[in-house]
Order: sequence, then C-alpha cells, then structure tokens
Amino acid sequence: MTTLLVTGGCGFIGSNYVRWVLDRHPDYRIINVDKLTYAGNPANLKDLDGDERYRFVQADIGDTPRMTDLMRGVDLVAHFAAESHVDRSLAGAGEFIATNVFGTYSLLVAARENGVNRFLHVSTDEVYGPVGPENPSTEDAAFRPTSPYAASKTGGELMASSFFHSYRFPVVITRGANTIGPYQYPEKAIPLFTTNAIEGKPLPLYGDGRQVRDRLYVTDHCAAADLVLHEGEPGRAYNVWAGNDCDNRAAAEAIVDTLGASHDLITPVEDRAGHDQSYYMDGSRLRGMGWRPQYDLESSLRTTVEWYRDNRWWWEPIKSGEYQDYYEKQYGKRLAAAGKQSP
Ligand code: NAD
Ligand code: DAU
Repeated sequence: MTTLLVTGGCGFIGSNYVRWVLDRHPDYRIINVDKLTYAGNPANLKDLDGDERYRFVQADIGDTPRMTDLMRGVDLVAHFAAESHVDRSLAGAGEFIATNVFGTYSLLVAARENGVNRFLHVSTDEVYGPVGPENPSTEDAAFRPTSPYAASKTGGELMASSFFHSYRFPVVITRGANTIGPYQYPEKAIPLFTTNAIEGKPLPLYGDGRQVRDRLYVTDHCAAADLVLHEGEPGRAYNVWAGNDCDNRAAAEAIVDTLGASHDLITPVEDRAGHDQSYYMDGSRLRGMGWRPQYDLESSLRTTVEWYRDNRWWWEPIKSGEYQDYYEKQYGKRLAAAGKQSP
C-alpha cells in the first residue's frame, strides 16, 4: 500500500486529482489535508464517502507540528493547496504569502523530516509572467511574476526547489496553464461566465476581452501531475501546456452559444489591474515523457459548460451567502458603470 498525502484536495484541481488517483491506483491510500477556506468544498468529493482508502483531515499546511505528525508513514506528497485567485490577491495578499510561501515551506520541512520519497509542488505558468506566442517559456526561462498571487507562487516554488538544491530532497514541479472543468469555484472566469449565463446575468469581461489563456482540461492537468510525481526527475520542473489558447471574448462567446444564451449578456467592464495579456509555454519536456492532452479547446470548453449546466446542485449553494459580498465588491461598480445592475 502506498500512502499519498494530497494538500488542497477539497479545491478544484485537488479534488479532481484525488478522484483520478483512486480510480487509477487501486493500491494507494490518500490523506487529503485541506483547511477548507472559502474555496475548499467537501461536496467536491462527496462520492468518496465510505471509501476506506480515503481520509480527510481539516488542517492548515502552515501548522508545521501538525504536518510533521500527519506525514508519518507517507510515501508521496502532491501539494495543490494555495490561495489561487489573482483578483483576490490584488485586494490583499497576506493569506497568499502565508499559504503559498510559508505553508509550502512548512510542508517541505515536515515531509523532509519524515523521509518522504517524492514531493510534487504544483506551480503555475504565471511564474514566468506575460509572454506572447512567439516566445513560449521553456522551463529554464526567467521568473517575472506580475500579480501578488503569481509572486507568492514564485516564492513557494523557489522554496521547494531550494530543498532539492540544499538537501537533495526529491522535489518535482509542474507549472500548469489555466485549467477548467468541474468543481471550479465560480469566481474564476469560465465557471463565473457559465453560471451567470445560465442565470441570465451579465458576463463581466475585463478590458477588451482580448487577453489569451490556455484552457487545459482538469483531468489532463491531473494526468500530468501524476506522471511528474511518479516519473519526473528530482529537482526538475515541467510545463503543462495544452495549446488550447483562446482569448476571453471568444471563450465567453463559446459559452453563451453552447447554452443558447444571448450574446448581449457579454459585458465589457473595467479591466483587472496589471492584467497579463497572455502566457505561452513550451510543453515539449512533458510531451517527451508521453503526456498528451485528451481535450482540445472545443471539447474542454463544451464539457466544462455542460457540467455546470447539469450540476446546479453544486454551484447554486456556493453563489449564495458570502459569495454575494465578494461579487458585489468585485463587480458592483464595474457593472453599474457598464449600465448593468449586479445581481
Ligand atoms: P482552489 O482555490 O480551487 O483550491 C485550493 C484548495 O486549497 C482549497 O480546497 C482550500 O481550502 C485549500 N487551502 C487553501 N489554503 C490552505 C491552507 N493554508 N492549508 C490547507 N489547505 C488550504 O485552487 P485550484 O484552482 O484547484 O489550484 C490548485 C493548485 O494548482 C494551486 O496551487 C494553484 O496555484 C495551482 N494552479 C491552478 C491553476 C488553475 O487554473 N486553477 C493552474 C495552474 C496551477
Ligand atoms: O494560468 C494559470 C492560472 O490560471 C492559475 O495559476 C490561477 O490559479 C488560476 O486562477 C488562473 O488564473 P487567471 O487569472 O488566468 O484565471 P481567471 O479565471 O481569474 O481569469 C481568466 C481570464 O479571464 C483572465 O484573462 C482574466 C479574465 N477575467 C476573469 C474574471 C474573473 C474576466 O475577463 N472577467 C472575470 O470576471
């Protein structure tokens, strides 16, 4: 039996990864450590109730004694936990530094002390900062993060690689592109646009909507993470790039078309501060290990939109309560300036 400790397993990618691993590694047991911030939702894994191979522990990764305790007997770590939303980091980055930098350090200390065999640190293409298609970032490119979120992820990643360089602790790193799919908190563009379109509400498109993102499907991200965890070379980073790049306006149009909603819902609003125009990565290192995305742009977007259309039970409770306050702060004035009421 192999014991895998996953952090952030109640979030978007982490919960998909937990399910992915249990489906593919019958001899694995998983400990899911999650603080249950606003973004952590036990409903993401409610289908695992009663599965003896799965254990949930509510804890903060910054609690080093607790992590050291939990890490006893653990073979592998997959570290997804983070504060993940760029817009929230622009409003205040204290939690981002606490979790993404110190929390990562705390986990590394606990894992090293317990002789963990492999530590996957889940990083992001945002560490490279904005680049265009003519100059895709290779894994050796310089880090030029621009947002407080990206800066905190860069700090955490540098800490992880320092454990390899200083102690030969077997850290491997993925740098994932913008990911979409089931169970993504509806503050992120694709689930926000989709659920708003379902409700007949405006889709707030930042600036001219011509910023470009990859649309990596979440199970493709999970497959990449699992491959790197098991077969990556210690000390190395791997870009996870699907090549499903499209601009935000095109994504919004595809969403309303899939749902049969009106294009009039697409509402240009005041831009995000310091909005990165695009990220592009060279994905050849991971492809050299055999990874291929199973979803292209069309199927990634369509499968995602259909899931939200068919799973209102999941997102309707989230969009009430606390979420409303966030929404009003983030979009109230923007939508009013665009002549639309926020809900
Ligand atoms: P998410 O916000 O959906 O989930 C984060 C999870 O971490 C939540 O369950 C939350 O409760 C938990 N968490 C936060 N702080 C914690 C703490 N201090 N202790 C324990 N648990 C804590 O995030 P996501 O989109 O699933 O992203 C997962 C990882 O992948 C992050 O590291 C993110 O930087 C990285 N990433 C995300 C994307 C993307 O497009 N979503 C792309 C590339 C990389
Ligand atoms: O690229 C990887 C990153 O992708 C991850 O590291 C982050 O954790 C993840 O959140 C994501 O960051 P983005 O900033 O790209 O994701 P978001 O969904 O917030 O925004 C996607 C694009 O859509 C971006 O260009 C901003 C734009 N946008 C976003 C929101 C929330 C809008 O136009 N309107 C919106 O309301």
